[in-house]
Amino acid sequence: MDLSDFRLIRLAPETQIKPFNCGDQDLNEFLLQDARNYLNELLAVTYIIESDTETIAFFSLLNDKISLQEICSNNQWKKIQGRLHRRKGKPSKSYPAMKIGRLGVSDSVQNQGLGGMILDFIKNLFISNNRTGCKFITVDAYNRSTKFYEKNGFNFFPAKESDNHTKMMYFDLVTLF
Ligand SMILES: CC(C)(COP(=O)(O)OP(=O)(O)OC[C@H]1O[C@@H](n2cnc3c(N)ncnc32)[C@H](O)[C@@H]1OP(=O)(O)O)[C@@H](O)C(=O)NCCC(=O)NCCS
Repeated sequence: MDLSDFRLIRLAPETQIKPFNCGDQDLNEFLLQDARNYLNELLAVTYIIESDTETIAFFSLLNDKISLQEICSNNQWKKIQGRLHRRKGKPSKSYPAMKIGRLGVSDSVQNQGLGGMILDFIKNLFISNNRTGCKFITVDAYNRSTKFYEKNGFNFFPAKESDNHTKMMYFDLVTLF
């Protein structure tokens, strides 16, 4: 996909958001009606990829943590924990993370690789010149999108409660080194 006709901007209070449709009403409405409030309330920062006429994609990011207590019964987690640095033999109770609160790609350009490129961009954002420590990326993935995240290296938290529509998934940024 040729990205040269698009630009990436960080949503600001004065940004004019261009029309957007990713096929999911909740995500469309979040961008067009709620994203600015999330910014003003310091709840999430939204990034927009746009052409001259439309919004091509957007994603919203916020801080998160993965708590050991929430998922300690899980074998998969124990494996991860085993790789983590231990101080005086005791693992930390929680680990810093960044959450993809929302991600949508315009239905005019879906299945052309843009979603994967956005995930690569986000991964790199949090391993280069990071202001704070961030070990995991998390996402509450729509059930229909879990394959997309799996293809991009995300894993499930099997022991973690998810609702009917979403599954909580994570990506360990250390795997990029
Ligand atoms: C989920 C979503 C963000 C994925 O974005 P996308 O740009 O379509 O993602 P990609 O193109 O990188 O990958 C999607 C598929 O295209 C395939 N693909 C990737 N590059 C490709 C290319 N150059 N040519 C053709 N297909 C390609 C991928 O293998 C993947 O295949 P799959 O359908 O078997 O999983 C997008 O479909 C979307 O916004 N959906 C609606 C909202 C939504 O569900 N958001 C997720 C919230 S958790």
